[in-house]
Amino acid sequence: MKLDKCLTSDSINQNLLNIQYAVRGPIVQRALQIERELEKGVKKPFDRVIRANIGDSHALGIKPITFIRQVLALAACPQLAKTTDFPEDVRQRVREILEDCPLGSVGAYSPPAGLRVIRSRIAQYLQKRDGVPASPDDIYLGSGASDVIKAVLNMFVKEVDGKPPAVMLPIPQYPMFSSMLTELGMRRTDYYLDEEHDWALSVEELERCWREASVDTHVRVLVVINPGNPTGQVLTRRNIEQIIKFAYDHNIFLMPDEVYQENVVCKPFLSFKKVMHEMGAPYSSMELASFMSCSKGWAAESGLRSGFVELVRLEPKVAAAFSTARGVMQCPSVLGQCIMDCVVKPPSPGEPSYEQFAKELRDIHQVLAEGTELAYNTFNSIPGYSCNPIDGSMYAYPRIEIPVRAQAAAAELGMAPDEFYCLRLLEETGVCVVAGTGFDQLPGTFHFRTTIVHPREELQHMMDSIRRFHMDFLKTYP
Ligand SMILES: Cc1ncc(COP(=O)(O)O)c(C=O)c1O
Repeated sequence: MKLDKCLTSDSINQNLLNIQYAVRGPIVQRALQIERELEKGVKKPFDRVIRANIGDSHALGIKPITFIRQVLALAACPQLAKTTDFPEDVRQRVREILEDCPLGSVGAYSPPAGLRVIRSRIAQYLQKRDGVPASPDDIYLGSGASDVIKAVLNMFVKEVDGKPPAVMLPIPQYPMFSSMLTELGMRRTDYYLDEEHDWALSVEELERCWREASVDTHVRVLVVINPGNPTGQVLTRRNIEQIIKFAYDHNIFLMPDEVYQENVVCKPFLSFKKVMHEMGAPYSSMELASFMSCSKGWAAESGLRSGFVELVRLEPKVAAAFSTARGVMQCPSVLGQCIMDCVVKPPSPGEPSYEQFAKELRDIHQVLAEGTELAYNTFNSIPGYSCNPIDGSMYAYPRIEIPVRAQAAAAELGMAPDEFYCLRLLEETGVCVVAGTGFDQLPGTFHFRTTIVHPREELQHMMDSIRRFHMDFLKTYP
């Protein structure tokens, strides 16, 4: 007898059917298929797939920081203290963390917002970063920044004044945001970053976006990604001030996603919280949710899932409701929290782990700095390519001119021109990048995003492959 499914594509939450996430989309699926074909001995013009589609440093060859891994090992298995020669600062760190864990076990639930000892150290880190007081009570750890970003967005789903809520997203955006809004059934309203001016936010464009969206929605949140993903810019103080004023004028809640703050190459990173504070009243009294992650920066422990949100100046009842909702999820991984502890308080000079830590940190910064320079120089030397300076993050987002004939070939296949380009790039070189369509872009412009923290030789090989491919592509589609 045929058993009817309880859950079908008609009866599932329809929002889930509409989620699109190009970072793991069809081109990446094709890359996985090609890898299997290569394993079976199928002949290709290349011998391996180079994954440049996802910002996952360890998967690209960056080595884990020894101090972090020693803290994790000892926290998970305190008996190792007897049989290993882990340095004294590792042992001390683990003692401090375990003292705050029920019965000294990282296997026990922590408070929903995270261990107090770690939230206190996060507050110290933020205070040192910004020169502004920070409180452990405003910090909520999560299973990655994504977890707390969704939790914060969830606070805004309610209609206000009879209008559905809308969230302002940058274009290009990191598609986690659009996907979450789709899942939550919330509307997005897009503002374009200004590619001609280093991907800055223009106030005129923010105003246009707000005005148009306000006709039939209530704009409640402004998301800013700084340093930018996929765009790699670090915003200037002046631009941040303009954005804060805009949010103040329209009573919009600011959500700066600052997860790449430890991935900065040349420009100083300024947090929204710091700039708000330095602007004084009334801006220094605005609410704010800012995000940080252990998946990025020098720790880059993406797989162990840890991030936090600092939520400041919320109405007490709102903060209480948020805390209660977080409590339903019990707590984020305690081992993940331990990583955050190491990120916000790494070994300092004079401590036993410092020398090794400092060397590992230098190596990681060097990979990022060299990758940034190589990608920037290469992309600005290929005819038909242009690339803005990459101040931070771990990506390049070059703009490409796609010949009209290639656009027509893409249309015949029902593909966007840049998707077609990226698919051809994959099929002919094995390089897997994400088409600009996946991040949204100004109509008529084409881009792709590539990661740039591969080992030097690999990145050089990738850049050479892209250049060769593009020159051939121009011959095929003159
Ligand atoms: C801008 C941005 N925000 C948030 C995240 C999510 O990070 P996590 O791994 O901490 O969930 C990412 C991940 O790539 C990101 O690029």
